[in-house]
Amino acid sequence: MSPVTKRLFVKNYGCQMNVYDGRRMADVLAPLGYTIVPDPEDADLVILNTCHIREKAAEKVYSELGRLAPLKRKRRMLIAVGGCVAQAEGEEVLARAPCVDLVFGPQTYHRLPELIVRAERTRTVDTDFPVEPKFDRLPEQAAPQGIAAYLTAQEGCDRFCAFCVVPYTRGAEYSRPAADVLAEARRLVDAGAREIMLLGQNVNAYHGAGPDGGEWRLDSLIRALGRIDRLERIRYTTSHPADMDDALIAAHGEVEKLMPYLHLPVQSGADRVLARMNRKYRARDYLRIVEKLRAARPDIALASDFIVGHPGETEADFAETLRLVAEVGYASAYSFKYSPRPGTPAADMEDQIPDQVKIERLARLQEAIDRTQTAFNRATVGRIVPVLFDRAGRGALQAAGRSPYLQPVHVDCATPAEALRLHGRIAPVELIVAKQNSLAGRLAYQEAAPA
Ligand code: 5AD
Ligand code: SF4
Repeated sequence: MSPVTKRLFVKNYGCQMNVYDGRRMADVLAPLGYTIVPDPEDADLVILNTCHIREKAAEKVYSELGRLAPLKRKRRMLIAVGGCVAQAEGEEVLARAPCVDLVFGPQTYHRLPELIVRAERTRTVDTDFPVEPKFDRLPEQAAPQGIAAYLTAQEGCDRFCAFCVVPYTRGAEYSRPAADVLAEARRLVDAGAREIMLLGQNVNAYHGAGPDGGEWRLDSLIRALGRIDRLERIRYTTSHPADMDDALIAAHGEVEKLMPYLHLPVQSGADRVLARMNRKYRARDYLRIVEKLRAARPDIALASDFIVGHPGETEADFAETLRLVAEVGYASAYSFKYSPRPGTPAADMEDQIPDQVKIERLARLQEAIDRTQTAFNRATVGRIVPVLFDRAGRGALQAAGRSPYLQPVHVDCATPAEALRLHGRIAPVELIVAKQNSLAGRLAYQEAAPA
């Protein structure tokens, strides 16, 4: 007998790992009869899978709860808050939002079936860090993820950057055994994935148990993934510069399926600020890594994250960040105003920077990033690159995908059938126009006329 159908709505905030976790929550709940619906109004269970990295991200959750409360007065519905806000605030979420029935952390969602039963009777909080990793308790992925899939290889972080909540919300660094990651990768490929993005808060610190009994670093895992037939592209995110070892750098030159793109957040270009951030490298160390990466893979595209207005950042420090942006020539980068997070060392530092200064520096940094990004995109115009068509384009005549450098590329097709045919395939595309955030291209081959 099939279980009674119940409707589940999951809203993910924040990073790619939350997107992955959100899918795994659906996998955990599928045996109970839960199927995903696109609208919270129709749901029996609403899960907000939250992010605590910056204050703004955390506040969004409470606004959403404010919108959900009236829905719950109209019909029976369970509201659950998961993810990093849940981990950081626990009981406080219940106090601030009376409509919430269940609060659970990123490490306990394998227990969702029992938590839901409990929450139906009484408001429940579960923010443990269980000794047994949740991955051992999760079912196999139930729903296919599509052409480009996420796969968590590593979770948590032991680096304790002064500004960051991740070590507190995601917990200690944990690497999944390589055999488990490889088995999940094979299942994703069997379900249609052509690209796998390995995820981890500090994924290049990966040191999982290898199938041969020894410990595998990320380069070994990538090499093994490279041997999976029909898996065409491998990426990983995100990485700490101090964990960028020579074997991993070498893999960028040797593993053809490893895409020439790396998100390697530097955060600041000033050594004083990097020391205050507890980043454990100097700007010149970072530049040396970039140099080695480019020696291994000359066309590698680099991306980064930046924080402006970290406590103690002077105008001279900020100028060094601008210099580093120009020197590296990023293909893309995210930049953020420093946001004090409760419980982190930087939040208690005395020399906090006024918001006005942060706003002004952020604008200047974003201009500098736009310049390097535009230059990068323009430099690829005229080239023929393989594009993985992994998403629907705008309208039936457009196909859309990603270049090896993760640039969004769209192609106008002659017929809707041609656009459909490209979906899920890798085809050579001549890049013809560069826009700020994407490129237009045309197919660099003629489709054979149907017989
Ligand atoms: N304030 C602003 N940005 C932050 N990040 C992490 N913590 C903070 C904070 N407290 C940024 C970093 C990190 C990215 C995921 O978020 O740049 O790389
Ligand atoms: Fe946070 Fe990344 Fe630093 Fe870990 S390495 S503490 S996740 S910024």
